[in-house]
Amino acid sequence: MATKKQEELLILKNKLRMGGGEKAMDRQHSAGKMTARERLLALFDEGSFVETGLFVKHRCTNFGMEKKESPGEGVVTGYGTVNGRLTYAAAQDFTVIGGSLGEMHADKIVKTQEAAMKAGAPMICINDSGGARIQEGVDALAGYGRIFYNNTMASGVIPQISVIMGPCAGGAVYSPALTDFIFMVKNTSQMFITGPSVIAAVTGESVTAEELGGARTHNAISGVAHYMAEDEGSCIRQIKELLGYLPQNNMENPPEMDLGDDWNRMAESLNELIPENPGKPYDMKAVIEALADGGQFMEYQEYFAPNLITGFIHMGGRSTGVIANQPKAMAGCLDINASDKAARFIRTCDSFNIPLLTLVDVPGFLPGTMQEHNGIIRHGAKMLYAYSEAVVPKITVITRKSYGGAYIGMCSRHLGADAVFAWPDAEIAVMGADGAANIIFSKEIKNASDGASRRKEKIAEYQESMMNPYVAASRGYVDDVIMPAETRKRVISALEAFRGKRVQKMPKKHGNIPL
Ligand code: HXC
Repeated sequence: MATKKQEELLILKNKLRMGGGEKAMDRQHSAGKMTARERLLALFDEGSFVETGLFVKHRCTNFGMEKKESPGEGVVTGYGTVNGRLTYAAAQDFTVIGGSLGEMHADKIVKTQEAAMKAGAPMICINDSGGARIQEGVDALAGYGRIFYNNTMASGVIPQISVIMGPCAGGAVYSPALTDFIFMVKNTSQMFITGPSVIAAVTGESVTAEELGGARTHNAISGVAHYMAEDEGSCIRQIKELLGYLPQNNMENPPEMDLGDDWNRMAESLNELIPENPGKPYDMKAVIEALADGGQFMEYQEYFAPNLITGFIHMGGRSTGVIANQPKAMAGCLDINASDKAARFIRTCDSFNIPLLTLVDVPGFLPGTMQEHNGIIRHGAKMLYAYSEAVVPKITVITRKSYGGAYIGMCSRHLGADAVFAWPDAEIAVMGADGAANIIFSKEIKNASDGASRRKEKIAEYQESMMNPYVAASRGYVDDVIMPAETRKRVISALEAFRGKRVQKMPKKHGNIPL
């Protein structure tokens, strides 16, 4: 028999767990959203979630706040297991004062971040909030500041995942922006610094919240977000899948996953893939899927800079980050967005001990004033820097074109690749044969009686002597020229060979990556 005090406790807990009450929950559901607790139930293994800070209350007395209840202080925090592995989370509860963030709400998030760092486990923050609690003024801003500081301290230590499942406006966007991964849900999540009404007042522009900062906008245009889901259920499934590629923290390796795929499997389809005509595109995703264990590929920033593909696969059971040019989009050229995307992904993998596999088919950096004036030099440098500083095993496979600065930039031996393979169709040169012949034989072509046929001859000559993988192999820049079908086997054996890779660096505070 429970005592009176025990009964009171149970009643109080049940009341607090109802958040803003049934009406507010109905409103949440009719907007196509789950409540904070429903989201956590869907995310964590059944029965594993332990809530912390249920009794926390705000201390604000401004504008009648002393009479305003805030069950759970508008954020549900705690820990549990996701696919059997310890994970911490905070989920803002929009049913309680619009999930707005005040001093004590922030304090719950800060404590959860700190616990995740101490325990060495991933931290997931689900955002659904009207932003800084206006009544709390500078105390709310201080709360955000503490969260941003912890986001920065945890960066590169534990995986930090932000999930946008409602509004995330103003300075509040900077917590997700400081984390490793941002997930958004179509039509029900938005991120912006200033909303449509402020924009209309200041600039006269008319834009909807979804156009301004919805999932599609941030996945395809701004590159702020990394994953987009149709609904909250599929978003949570995506998060669980991603966690399967990540370690608990920077001191551990990612979990190994046996998908039952033979390490020595020949990827026969790859022998047929490269078109005879080097100007013809093919789908690099087919290469990735043919190489990956079980053909499983979780793409990262699928909708942003599609000329460069990034994402996670398992190779011989081992989580591996893939960076690959996509000949099907802009001929696989590197531009500003592709450089930023690659640099960020490389650093994410390196932080978390995930080896890198680079697949190269790149005609060069994208020419044009737009690119030059917007700083392709500065942005391209990020990628070179990220590859050079990465200490995880780095394996490179050149499938076809690899020209000029882009050859160097796509994890060449010179930036520290541990193993470099090339397919027989690889063309490793300063530029394509047409361009090269036009420059170095320009006088000869101009002075010839039949310029056009002399030009053709010179292109063929350049093609024959330079556009192959054997010159680079003869210098040892390429370790081996291999049949495409052998690639899976060779990459897995190289990854195994470099499993214990150790790198000594000059002591320094931190490098100065071009930003
Ligand atoms: C206090 C807030 C709040 C806030 C919402 N509420 N946002 N209370 N501070 N920031 C309250 C509402 O008063 C309401 O309370 C309840 O939450 C639900 O809000 P609704 O407006 O009814 O919901 P909805 O119609 O869905 O609109 C959601 C919304 C809107 C678009 C988010 O509430 C809104 O525009 N809020 C203000 C957003 C904002 O400007 N925030 C400050 C951003 S600046 P009742 O009691 O009526 O149920 C910022 C700076 C951070 O965040 C800087 C960090 C460095």
